[in-house]
Amino acid sequence: MTNPNPPHLPKHLSCFLLFVSVIHAVLAANYDPSDKFLLNCGANGETSDDDGRKWTSDVRSKLSGGSSIASDAATQKPSVPTTPYTTARIFESEFTYSFPVSSGRKFIRLYFYPADYANLVARNGIFSVTVGPYTVLKNFSAFETANNLNYDFFHKEYSVSTESGTLNLTFTPAPNHPNSYAFINGIEVLSHPDIYSSKGTSMMVGLSTSFDIGNATALENVYRLNVGGQAITPSGDTGLFRPWEGDSPYIYGSDIGVFVATDQNLTISYPSGMPDYVAPVNVYKTARAMGPTPQVNLGFNLSWYFDVDTGFSYLVRLHFCEIDPNITKNNQRVFEIFINNQTAQPDADVVAWALKNEVPVYKDYIVFLPVGSPRQDLWLALHPNTEQKPNYYNAILNGVEIFKVNTSDGNLAGSLPNPIPNQSVIDPSRVLPRSSGKSSNKGWIIGGSIGGVLAGIVVIGLFVCLLSRKRKGRKTQNSSDRTSNWLPLSLYGNSDTSDTTAKTHGSYAPSIPSNLARHFTFAEIQAATDNFDEARLLGVGGFGKVYKGEINGGATKLAIKRGNPLADQGVNEFRTELELLSKLRHRHLVSLIGYCEENTEMILVYDYMAHGTLREHLYKTQNQPLTWKQRLDICIGAARGLHYLHTGAKHTIIHRDVKTTNILLDENFVAKVSDFGLSKTGPAMDHTHVSTVVKGSFGYLDPEYYRRQKLTEKSDVYSFGVVLFEILTGRPALNPTLAKEQVSLAEWALHCHKKGILDEILDPHLRGKVTSECFKKVAEIAVKCLADEGIHRPSMGDVLWTLEFAMQLQESAGEGSVDLENDEMPLSGKLKGFDDNVTDSTSTGLSTSIGGQSLGSEDSYGLTPSAVFSQIMNPNGR
Ligand SMILES: *[C@@H]1O[C@H](CO)[C@@H](O)[C@H](O)[C@H]1NC(C)=O
Ligand SMILES: *[C@@H]1O[C@H](CO)[C@@H](O)[C@H](O)[C@H]1NC(C)=O
Ligand SMILES: *[C@@H]1O[C@H](CO)[C@@H](O)[C@H](O)[C@H]1NC(C)=O
Ligand SMILES: *[C@@H]1O[C@H](CO)[C@@H](O)[C@H](O)[C@H]1NC(C)=O
Ligand SMILES: *[C@@H]1O[C@H](CO)[C@@H](O)[C@H](O)[C@H]1NC(C)=O
Ligand SMILES: *[C@@H]1O[C@H](CO)[C@@H](O)[C@H](O)[C@H]1NC(C)=O
Ligand SMILES: *[C@@H]1O[C@H](CO)[C@@H](O)[C@H](O)[C@H]1NC(C)=O
Ligand SMILES: *[C@@H]1O[C@H](CO)[C@@H](O)[C@H](O)[C@H]1NC(C)=O
Ligand SMILES: *[C@@H]1O[C@H](CO)[C@@H](O)[C@H](O)[C@H]1NC(C)=O
Repeated sequence: MTNPNPPHLPKHLSCFLLFVSVIHAVLAANYDPSDKFLLNCGANGETSDDDGRKWTSDVRSKLSGGSSIASDAATQKPSVPTTPYTTARIFESEFTYSFPVSSGRKFIRLYFYPADYANLVARNGIFSVTVGPYTVLKNFSAFETANNLNYDFFHKEYSVSTESGTLNLTFTPAPNHPNSYAFINGIEVLSHPDIYSSKGTSMMVGLSTSFDIGNATALENVYRLNVGGQAITPSGDTGLFRPWEGDSPYIYGSDIGVFVATDQNLTISYPSGMPDYVAPVNVYKTARAMGPTPQVNLGFNLSWYFDVDTGFSYLVRLHFCEIDPNITKNNQRVFEIFINNQTAQPDADVVAWALKNEVPVYKDYIVFLPVGSPRQDLWLALHPNTEQKPNYYNAILNGVEIFKVNTSDGNLAGSLPNPIPNQSVIDPSRVLPRSSGKSSNKGWIIGGSIGGVLAGIVVIGLFVCLLSRKRKGRKTQNSSDRTSNWLPLSLYGNSDTSDTTAKTHGSYAPSIPSNLARHFTFAEIQAATDNFDEARLLGVGGFGKVYKGEINGGATKLAIKRGNPLADQGVNEFRTELELLSKLRHRHLVSLIGYCEENTEMILVYDYMAHGTLREHLYKTQNQPLTWKQRLDICIGAARGLHYLHTGAKHTIIHRDVKTTNILLDENFVAKVSDFGLSKTGPAMDHTHVSTVVKGSFGYLDPEYYRRQKLTEKSDVYSFGVVLFEILTGRPALNPTLAKEQVSLAEWALHCHKKGILDEILDPHLRGKVTSECFKKVAEIAVKCLADEGIHRPSMGDVLWTLEFAMQLQESAGEGSVDLENDEMPLSGKLKGFDDNVTDSTSTGLSTSIGGQSLGSEDSYGLTPSAVFSQIMNPNGR
């Protein structure tokens, strides 16, 4: 793709920070819109969307201008909801929709699915849009926008005030562009109460002038987040149909703070004067706060960043509600709020503002981003205030909305969003459309961890009493005899209890905005799996089942993971996986197609992976063992996927659970990294934060991470080293049936390497098939990956390069492969016969303590990770 990548320049220059803090007196609740239009453009008749809303065709609307064409999208990706996205109205000249409206504020929502329509190619869809006197889009390419955001489809939301009369929406193809055309899939016009205005009372910080948001001001919503909570679908909003996203993709760094969950009986009471449609209760019921340790909190800022256009003012609305029962008085939790690195509020005290806990309050701030580079990050950061000597050095936030404010010439149009991940770093071929229909019918699936996650440690959740909480010791049903040892994800895996919100509120809905992944109804899932027919079962785990599903009359095959509805955890990882995967598209990352969240169901829908996990092609398998080249090829693919996670996105994404059951194979044995339930965005953190959760799978766990809870992308490199030894040796990462020193593959392989006898543990299936140079290269890099300290390990890019080089060595040897056994010692044996100690004491200690409990191999011995977890974490339990 030839996206112009707008350069990402350092933020610099001072921004004017304007400060507005208003208490609004608005009318009371239950807003009933006086104007409500839902136009499914280009469609026939009435249809319903995923939220059950009825959309009408636009044929009877008041249209004027040149001719227009109604068209179906040429391609329909499975992730894209039919209503309103799969039909469009196309204009090759200026064209106007006129809506009869009453006076007052309206949301205007424009829905786009950039595909080819009516023989017009998607990339030529370049146009501008005006709404009344405002230019909302200019030289706009939905195609490029979707590309940069990695969305298949998306919508834009504006709020404008109208007089009673006619509201005109005009679409104009870009004049300077040959073959340009305009298109629109859906238009929504919905009255909303005037909840965003401020009149006269608000001052610009540092400027002592006021900034008004009045009837003449148009706003574009650019972000709307339920901080510390789950996404809220439009129907979960207060009748205004605003989707709220989770905030995790926007958190900067590894210091993610803690989720504040609330107990069941929490009652959020809106103060008089604040209508409850300002934000739904679920926004206020969850929050993110700093951890429990004051010293740690003083050392960092709880930060979020948002890619925005420069040259505009932004209204930043922060929603607060003190939901920690310990904090009921003034001056208990006081913190500074920085917006774009300037103090917006030196002494935020939620209880002092709201006069009570469990009472919502919101604050508006205005910040101007001067023109510099076309786009910039808007930073939001919280830090404890020490001057006021509050009881807790802590901070809290429940929700954020960010709006772009029109310029004085009525403009809201900006530049293309910055590309989220840099696809071209590794794989210029970028991501193919999600496959439909080519999978062979043999096979397996998307797999996850067999309870992969082993240790969830400390956490999170001020009211969550973690460690004392005994796992029920659910035994996994799947025995080692099952060919496929995956479980449905860590998703339903034990994980930590960091997020009890879903459970306690009965709101399971870990949904995400519909522009990220398709929402399936439960009925659709039932139809796709013949009502969870056992014949379609691909596998069973302690936490749920995975089924093979089919849609589009069998043309599209899916892997459908259904969580055990009663599983009392995993919601958080469900959300992480959903949010991360739906934004990432890469040839070597598994594609999420959609999800379903009805009736307390947590279901994820993926591309079907015909050949299952890498692991089930290595050992204990009926499958033909993979050839050496296949193994190498798969590792190269997986390394690309990981390298992309580490470097391709703006901020590093650490997978945290790299292992052979999380590397899946499609029908062509193309490797896809899966299971992002544990992933974390952010640069390495440089101090230990108590809320850090050590997670991962034993046998693969970076000893440094385990010891110091210091998470870096080098932890993935370590785990990948273990994977490399697995493909070399054809044995599991942990095998407690072996002699003690051999239990851990990582240790045993390092030991053999030191003694120069690594070739002796080569997988017998590979004997005579691997050239010694190639073997040497791969073994060498694997050993480096296992270096005790992260800084001594190679980057994923180096690993990738070395594996590609090894592949060349193998290929240049052609058919006549060298038998290793006829070779001299392939690897250095300097310490031969000298050093019998196995690697460092820490990792030895780790594996023996597990071995001693016969907890062994993470998926073969029938123990739940939870059991391991509770034994490790609760010494008294032993
Ligand atoms: C604001 O702070 C963040 C992180 O501390 C930094 O990356 C960014 O460059 C700063 N922005 C400006 C405009 O100084
Ligand atoms: C804004 O518009 C509304 C509805 O038209 C009207 O009631 C209100 O008085 C206007 N406000 C101002 C400040 O003009
Ligand atoms: C319009 O946008 C395209 C990319 O979509 C860009 O290449 C072109 O320079 C823009 N033109 C103007 C006049 O801004
Ligand atoms: C809306 O557009 C129609 C047709 O172009 C025009 O006649 C009418 O005056 C416009 N109304 C407003 C309020 O701009
Ligand atoms: C919530 O309220 C119910 C009924 O009032 C009570 O039985 C229950 O113990 C309360 N739960 C908590 C966690 O306080
Ligand atoms: C928090 O952010 C503010 C504003 O960017 C900055 O001045 C301060 O140094 C940061 N504090 C820490 C501990 O990073
Ligand atoms: C846009 O915003 C400014 C400032 O909020 C306002 O003065 C102006 O009238 C607005 N509308 C138009 C059409 O320019
Ligand atoms: C993406 O990668 C390409 C190729 O390495 C590079 O030229 C480009 O600058 C990168 N873009 C960004 C935004 O990092
Ligand atoms: C709240 O108070 C209880 C009882 O004093 C204590 O156990 C708990 O840790 C406190 N929570 C926080 C967040 O400090």
